[in-house]
Amino acid sequence: MKRVAVLISGRGSNLQSLIDAADGHYQIILVLSNKADAGGLERARAAGIATQVIPHAGPLGEKKCREDFDAELDAALRATNPDIVVLAGFMRILSDGFVRGWEGRLINIHPSLLPAYKGTRVHERVIAAGENLSGASVHFVVPELDAGPVIAQASVPVHPSDSPQALADRVLAVEHTLYPEALKLLADGSVRLEKGLAVFG
Ligand code: GRF
Repeated sequence: MKRVAVLISGRGSNLQSLIDAADGHYQIILVLSNKADAGGLERARAAGIATQVIPHAGPLGEKKCREDFDAELDAALRATNPDIVVLAGFMRILSDGFVRGWEGRLINIHPSLLPAYKGTRVHERVIAAGENLSGASVHFVVPELDAGPVIAQASVPVHPSDSPQALADRVLAVEHTLYPEALKLLADGSVRLEKGLAVFG
């Protein structure tokens, strides 16, 4: 059974789906947030999972530099020694050094059909472009933002009348089954990162 740490910044609905789907492939041993008021922390506590907050501002409100924050994050993770680190709505860009240190063991979920629509304000841009299909992607994290090899994707229709929120809700619903399935593939060795590619089997 693989030991998993989940990094969050917000409400943690994906975290909840990972908690609910944990069934022998993996065990969530730590939920780490950069925000003390992230709703996902409460979900972790309710499930009896250890939590930790590492703020990205110091005691006087001063911003830590990315490398200092990532070094703290890395130390906290190494202290619990997870096999896999899962980003679930973690709203911080991670430094190259951090990403390389967890290469092949670090995954993210992004609310688009990557490589289309990397970055933020995805649903707004998808609707503005007149797409009729969108979705979600789980991918290995590499230093370039949202550019890592895709492990699994799920698609949803985009309706002409969609608001960004309506589309976000539709995508989120498929994220909740996609992420646990993709994590299980990684946890049981059915997918791995090799020479920059996701290799299956
Ligand atoms: C999801 O839309 C996910 O795709 C993106 O951040 C959002 C997190 O939502 N990376 P939640 O905190 O899991 O509810």
